[in-house]
Amino acid sequence: MIHYPRTALAEELVTALQGKAAFSDAHNGLFLAAPRRTGKSTFLQADLQPALERQGVVVVYVDLWADQRRDPGALVADAIGRALQPHLGRVARLAKASGLESVTIAGALKIDTRKIGQLDGATLPDALRALLEAARAPVALIIDEAQHALTSDAGEAAMAALKSARDQLNRPGTANLMLVMSGSDRDKLLRLVNTNGAPFYGSQIQRMPELGPDFIAHIGQLIETQRPDLQPVDTPALLTAFQRFGSRPQFFMEALGQALSPLAALNTRFELAMAQAAGQRQADDEAQMESEYLGLKPVEQAVLWRLLAQGQRFRPYDAEALRFYRDKTEDGVSPQKVQNALEALRQRSPAIVWKSARGEYAVDDAAMHRWFEQRVAASTWPPVGRQTDLDFETVKPE
Ligand SMILES: Nc1ncnc2c1ncn2[C@@H]1O[C@H](COP(=O)(O)OP(=O)(O)OP(=O)(O)O)[C@@H](O)[C@H]1O
Ligand SMILES: [Mg+2]
Repeated sequence: MIHYPRTALAEELVTALQGKAAFSDAHNGLFLAAPRRTGKSTFLQADLQPALERQGVVVVYVDLWADQRRDPGALVADAIGRALQPHLGRVARLAKASGLESVTIAGALKIDTRKIGQLDGATLPDALRALLEAARAPVALIIDEAQHALTSDAGEAAMAALKSARDQLNRPGTANLMLVMSGSDRDKLLRLVNTNGAPFYGSQIQRMPELGPDFIAHIGQLIETQRPDLQPVDTPALLTAFQRFGSRPQFFMEALGQALSPLAALNTRFELAMAQAAGQRQADDEAQMESEYLGLKPVEQAVLWRLLAQGQRFRPYDAEALRFYRDKTEDGVSPQKVQNALEALRQRSPAIVWKSARGEYAVDDAAMHRWFEQRVAASTWPPVGRQTDLDFETVKPE
């Protein structure tokens, strides 16, 4: 396993978060989106967190997908509670010395020394203030898969509380509380920022840069060092293969391991084998989506089709949508049937449809949009199942 450090990018973001970059709004919160498996969590934990810590910032990292059964609001509160623990040593000693069971920090928060870690959403700003006071340093809260907070009322409340904490704790020129939120789906993250009622209204979503030419150059050098017989490595060809792997390092490295294995017995250059593997991966991904789609009931297919075509404009029950379902299924579709279909699509594992606490829908995996658009452009939408012998049997005349 190799980890390619992305120090320059991390340091750039730290400067922006501290409010030191001109023309950046990051001090109001940094919202980063990038597709699945492209290295978001790794970057946040292995690059951004240490870069912040080097600047004396206390970092709290929480992944809202880590435990899907727990409420996102509680996960955030827990993470802050855990970050408070080490600093409570000093606070707790103070309390003990003066015979107290609870301590007041910053004249604001009374902490019961036995109850740390059991904070709820309402006390999030207080808990953050306590952490700031106890650590005597700025705090950065990194929330991975932040869009998940929108799937519960408590999660939404936690986001609103964080927004208010940010407004209370930050002053122009001093960023005491830095917020970083990341997610694999820009559309879903947008719901945190794009309407008047959204918790972070006014902020922008940025695309987290994916690994690219410098990563591949690094890999190329490693290969040349370890396998001098393969010099010179065709880096542009490797870069193309990496991008066709969707810039997902895991799949790329796995294929590279195979192509370079002594057991591979290739009679071509390994770069060519990589290009083939990338094409295969793409075909497999698409076949997977196709078979999922074909496995759905007609109403579910129609609802998913509508959602793919409409994106953020999707309204499941309006007259136009109902007409669309009727056209596609050649059958009357009641709102109840639509609701059942949406529920079925959400309950599948893995889920195909995502729903926020406010009743907004999105496809769970944004890659499906790309697949849909490509097929529409190639006039191969919708996918049609192959007729099997079984199909012919079921239409046997009675
Ligand atoms: N800088 C890097 N160098 C090498 N490998 C990396 C790097 N970043 C990520 N990877 C590898 O890519 C894979 C995906 O990384 P990671 O989990 O960080 O992505 P993610 O975008 O958070 O994925 P998910 O959408 O599933 O949350 C992991 O196997 C990881 O080891
Ligand atoms: Mg992740």
